[in-house]
Amino acid sequence: MTWEWLPPTLVLIVLVVGIYLTRPATAGAPSARASLVRRSPEMIASRLRQRAAGTAPAVYLSFAVRTAGTVLRTFTRRSDPARWRRPDSLSPTWDSRTAQMAALISPGASVIEFGAGRQALRTLLPAGCTYVPCDLVDRGGGTRVVDLNARRLPRFGQYDVAVLSGVLEYVHDVPRLIDRLAADSSSAIVSYAAVDVQDPNQETGRDRLMRRSHGWVNDYTSREIMTMFTRAGFTCVHTGAWNDQEIYQFTRK
Ligand SMILES: C[S@@+](CC[C@H](N)C(=O)[O-])C[C@H]1O[C@@H](n2cnc3c(N)ncnc32)[C@H](O)[C@@H]1O
Repeated sequence: MTWEWLPPTLVLIVLVVGIYLTRPATAGAPSARASLVRRSPEMIASRLRQRAAGTAPAVYLSFAVRTAGTVLRTFTRRSDPARWRRPDSLSPTWDSRTAQMAALISPGASVIEFGAGRQALRTLLPAGCTYVPCDLVDRGGGTRVVDLNARRLPRFGQYDVAVLSGVLEYVHDVPRLIDRLAADSSSAIVSYAAVDVQDPNQETGRDRLMRRSHGWVNDYTSREIMTMFTRAGFTCVHTGAWNDQEIYQFTRK
């Protein structure tokens, strides 16, 4: 066999393996040829993920791929829209954190939420509040699509409260975002997985690896978070805890 046959042969092998691994599991499903026509690369990747899920090599591989992807993003300073577009990227288990944060908001406040996700905050707000969701991904409900890692941050407009629940961990330039919040919002309610709270001993790099595997691109201590907000003109008026994360309420002087 000559070398020019190698690329098409490899493509054929990948196709056959792809069809085999992603074949429909149920009886009466469409023929392999018919379903191949309808398959997108995302569908094939998602089927492969489902089939491999839970097996030890898949768990290690997925950890390695996620961690490497985040490390790469710390250099490129990009966001991860592919992850956040996946339907399983958001969890209702975070709603109790949102509820804790909503309890700090006064009735009638104008509220903007960054990284709004499922927009659980909308239904948890006290009476008379207005709500504007912002996210990297259009999640309906009038989402303002904003990439907090964009080269230029837009002006967000004046709001009584800016809420950031589980999103600061994905921002490369946190001081820049806080400066922008200080220019536009009278107060901010923020959650953060601080390194000193998550891993009080800070003895190994294991915690950093775990953070990268979650997609978290920064590693601040709780004190550093407070210092950044204070420098931007905020005063911390409340701190609380949700699991092993901190919740802060800041108002502008
Ligand atoms: C961990 S989820 C938190 C969702 C929601 N705040 C909650 O607590 O349920 C992170 C959210 O931030 C959004 N996000 C991630 N990176 C972002 C970026 N660079 N700019 C804006 N939003 C981002 C994601 O799309 C997702 O909705």
